[in-house]
Amino acid sequence: MPRFMNFRRAGLVALTAGLGAVAQAQDFNPYRGQATVHEAGRQAYSQHCAQCHGVDASQPMAEAPDLRRLDSFCRRLRDPVLKNDCTADVDRYYLRSVHEGKVRAGVVHMPAWKDVLTPQQIWSIRTFVETRPLDPPKRTTSVDARHAAESPVAASGSAR
Ligand code: HEC
Repeated sequence: MPRFMNFRRAGLVALTAGLGAVAQAQDFNPYRGQATVHEAGRQAYSQHCAQCHGVDASQPMAEAPDLRRLDSFCRRLRDPVLKNDCTADVDRYYLRSVHEGKVRAGVVHMPAWKDVLTPQQIWSIRTFVETRPLDPPKRTTSVDARHAAESPVAASGSAR
């Protein structure tokens, strides 16, 4: 446990030292909705992310999380201000995940990309992922199923 704690602290120091400038200048996606970066994003995604997160960011069964799902909570918000805040939070989480990678108890699940990719590549990848079509929502829990049975309109998906 102490080794794990030390590791975490070291990681955090490295992050704040290395990241300050970039994170402060740009921790939200500056390219959102810009079709001109899709091709660059698609190429960078294919080269660096697809092997784990799935070809074209549209394989829910890939070994690493489906990156389209990062925004699934925000998508359900109707209030535009809340939605915007939510997306900004996810941008920060995305940036931190990509910069640092994912390490749990000393095991690297995803390498850090901060010395590999430029901010332009990182944000064009996110923009590309945001263009990927979503799979239809699946009702997998008994709570959802019961809700659907009781209130078919409310539970039917995009209306919510
Ligand atoms: C070697 C396999 C691998 C590669 C390559 C990889 N990832 Fe990951 N990534 C993972 C795994 C595994 C996780 C989940 C780790 C965990 O939560 O412990 C993950 C998690 C993430 C998360 C957080 C997802 C969430 O739901 O919390 C983001 C964001 C992410 N990766 C982005 C990227 C991007 C962008 C690239 C390409 C630049 C990339 N990854 C390349 C394996 C990979």
